[in-house]
Amino acid sequence: EMSDQEREFQDRIDRDEKIEPKDWMPDDYRATLIRQMGQHAHSEVVGQLPEGNWITRAPTLERKAILLAKVQDEAGHGLYLYSAAETLGESRDELVRLLHEGRMKYSSIFNYPTLNWADIGAVGWLVDGAAIVNQVALQRTSYGPYSRAMIRICKEESFHARQGYHAIMQMAFGTPAQKAMAQDAVNRLWFPAIMMFGPNDSESTHSEQSMAWKIKVKSNDELRQQFVDQTVPQIEYLGLDLPDPGIKWNEERGHYDFSDPDWNEFFDVIKGNGPCNVDRLKDRVDAWEDGAWVRDGLLAHARKKSARTAA
Ligand code: ACO
Repeated sequence: EMSDQEREFQDRIDRDEKIEPKDWMPDDYRATLIRQMGQHAHSEVVGQLPEGNWITRAPTLERKAILLAKVQDEAGHGLYLYSAAETLGESRDELVRLLHEGRMKYSSIFNYPTLNWADIGAVGWLVDGAAIVNQVALQRTSYGPYSRAMIRICKEESFHARQGYHAIMQMAFGTPAQKAMAQDAVNRLWFPAIMMFGPNDSESTHSEQSMAWKIKVKSNDELRQQFVDQTVPQIEYLGLDLPDPGIKWNEERGHYDFSDPDWNEFFDVIKGNGPCNVDRLKDRVDAWEDGAWVRDGLLAHARKKSARTAA
């Protein structure tokens, strides 16, 4: 049932060739990439909000400088990803419009609040840690511009995870009150972090086709397991209690067993009903509207300049 063109395309994918913007591709391959890359870009941008909230309250000048740099990096990641999505023929303005109208998603994790400084450490460590596990795999995605964006993003993302771990380490090895804050942050953010990988493979609508096209190179459950396996020893090193009583080394599988997150909560959050969905979207729409004068100014300048060269 595949046309010759589709067969040829699949053969290129099977040979691990990268697909480039001007190459022929099936409409659904293009649409799936626009959806995933757009959602990914939106996550980077919306992801600035829970951390940006703490820049003015960072406990030291050094922590403030680090957090500021990290949050700026996230804006840059959003821009690389919007640019990469534009190579598929979808404009950044259109993607942003769809986000603002609630017609595109961004990562569930950013709909949870950051209540205190320990949360900022835990976000860097757990959330950026989960993002890296996913993004390292995506460096091998079949679409060239997406793959290349991931290589650069992963370098910056590993700095983010380390700064988070370092911040949480200082608290875990600090006073009993600091250690209790670190524990509380891990307890609250653990399940939302493992939800970032998406639903179980059996519930994942896009996985089968996306893996056949190598848009995704590892499944949601494989990546989640990888994250749990790398993170449990880090929690133990900090001397913190494991946030899930179901976490147990399974000798036979060679992996940690762990409990499922509450999937009803997950589906509720991605439908727009998480604790911060309304605020996050409002903040993005307000920022877009507040920035209109900058875009207008740049356009006016560009028009004057081109009129001058034409004259
Ligand atoms: N948050 C919000 N929505 C999600 C999440 C999540 N954590 N996981 C899955 N979904 C959505 C999917 O978008 C899809 O909805 P849609 O059809 O309306 O688009 C639905 O749930 C079903 O899930 P899947 O079929 O498994 O979706 P998909 O194949 O896209 O896999 C995944 C989800 C793994 C998140 C994939 O899109 C991906 O790897 N994206 C790139 C990485 C990314 O977005 N990272 C952002 C995280 S944080 C950061 O980078 C700063």
